[in-house]
Amino acid sequence: MARILILNGPNLNLLGTREPEIYGHESLEDIEIKCGNHGKAIGTDIDFRQSNSEGELVDWIQAAAGSTDGIIINPAAYTHTSIAILDALKQVDCPIIELHLSNIFSRETFRHHSYISPIANGVICGFGAHGYLLALDAISRLVSDKKEF
Ligand code: DQA
Repeated sequence: MARILILNGPNLNLLGTREPEIYGHESLEDIEIKCGNHGKAIGTDIDFRQSNSEGELVDWIQAAAGSTDGIIINPAAYTHTSIAILDALKQVDCPIIELHLSNIFSRETFRHHSYISPIANGVICGFGAHGYLLALDAISRLVSDKKEF
């Protein structure tokens, strides 16, 4: 069974109450449950985590090298700032999908740049919580086919 690591960055623990007009009404726990159910349905084993700390995210990415078949990451605000997360992801030899609930390109210009996109296999943004399920389908295809779309 493919092992997929889903990482969530800062402030995503507040989903449901944080700017619901942008991020929706579902909590991160609701999304984790949906991912678990969808993961079972498509035969993937999900490890779902959130941290407000850049260093902890880097530690988890380093630990994933060799033990994870694919990484889905919503780096949240670190998308736009973190060379450390970029460098950690560069050391991981598995498919990587960058994910955002909101359409970062329709928002403030500082959100238009991502340090992560250049090394991601693909980017999903703008589909709210459903994006997590889209990302799971996409990564499971990348993992099982071992090829690009
Ligand atoms: C986000 C978009 C980021 O710009 C923002 O800082 C977040 C969430 C999203 O999921 O839409 O915290 O990654």
